[in-house]
Amino acid sequence: MSPLSEKGRKVLVTGAGGFIGHHLVRRLKSEGCWVRGVDIRRPAFVPTDADEFLLSDLRFQDNCSTAVEGVDDVYQLAADMGGIGYITTIHASLSRNNILINSHMLEAARLADVSRYFYSSSACVYPAHLQGEVGIRPLRETDAIPANPEKGYGWEKLFAEQLASYFSEEYGLDVRIVRFHNIYGPLGTYEGGREKAPAAISRKAAELPDGGSIPVWGDGEQTRSFCYIDDCIDGIRRIMESGFQQPVNLGSTELVTVNQLVDMICAIAQKRLVKVHELNRPQGVRGRNSDNSLLKSILDWEPQTKLHSGLAITYRWIWGQLAEKGLAQPPVPVPPARSLVAPVSHQHDSTGVAVSSPLSSRH
Ligand SMILES: NC(=O)c1ccc[n+]([C@@H]2O[C@H](COP(=O)([O-])OP(=O)(O)OC[C@H]3O[C@@H](n4cnc5c(N)ncnc54)[C@H](O)[C@@H]3O)[C@@H](O)[C@H]2O)c1
Repeated sequence: MSPLSEKGRKVLVTGAGGFIGHHLVRRLKSEGCWVRGVDIRRPAFVPTDADEFLLSDLRFQDNCSTAVEGVDDVYQLAADMGGIGYITTIHASLSRNNILINSHMLEAARLADVSRYFYSSSACVYPAHLQGEVGIRPLRETDAIPANPEKGYGWEKLFAEQLASYFSEEYGLDVRIVRFHNIYGPLGTYEGGREKAPAAISRKAAELPDGGSIPVWGDGEQTRSFCYIDDCIDGIRRIMESGFQQPVNLGSTELVTVNQLVDMICAIAQKRLVKVHELNRPQGVRGRNSDNSLLKSILDWEPQTKLHSGLAITYRWIWGQLAEKGLAQPPVPVPPARSLVAPVSHQHDSTGVAVSSPLSSRH
């Protein structure tokens, strides 16, 4: 694999006001790229590091054409999306928005003759019938078709993957298609209805006093794996450099039940909370894990961060956000020992704090 340094490359990150896009912009800047970010909103928590940031709606072809002007690479992360409560309620508008973004972005990238095109897909493309049990086997890339994905969001992601492949076959667009599995970390949405389980449970735990009752969606026995944002960004960059054009999983294989996730967050929060299971709430598929065989065969690498370590950093960041609004209940979280991996050089971690961090060299 070529070194992860992109000095002088001109790059577009769409969805740069969002969680993963914001972190990716920061990473590409640290590698020496010139970065244009595009989104309908600015990053929610800290200013963007992008050289240029366009507030623009990518459902429109003209805006996509402007966005890709003069860039070498495109990272297409813009999407109407959210946690399970969000994506299971608005199928029509969400699907329409995302299909417009993806079809117009691919066409704009083709016309602008960009060098490389990264598409952020999702584990939601996998068939429901392979995820009906808590103890399911991890999902392989070949499981996606014959298809029976998540209604709305998953169907659109799967079709957009196909569309990217057609652009590759017919026009020679050099695509990457990556299926993210539950990415979490600091600077992610933690309130308002679009947040995902690690952030939602961290927020609830931070707001509750010791001994309080914490609502848990479903019976809590549903299983998932969660991938820390630094690993996700590292994986995105590695896959972009790999030249691999077929769909590939990017996730952790550390499977937990949602109840175990709650227990971990309670331990980090140093609180004993009583779980109250809300059985009428959406819980998504019963079990889902990433099979990383293909990822490892391509990159000789896979996500490294232990769930407990990533959650400790995430919880502390969410607690700090809530504390600023007077909403966090003690105790103040202890700084996590950030020994996720071996030290390399001084960089910025997910929270923007300068730390010793080997973002690009984890084997
Ligand atoms: N976070 C995850 O766990 C996860 C899992 C699977 C796939 N993904 C995919 O990864 C990508 C990034 O996800 P994220 O977690 O950063 O989500 P996010 O919601 O934080 O970021 C997506 C961004 O897209 C922007 N956007 C929406 N509509 C737009 C439009 N019409 N024009 C321009 N921008 C628009 C949003 O404003 C948002 O800032 C998305 O494509 C998502 O579907 C994420």
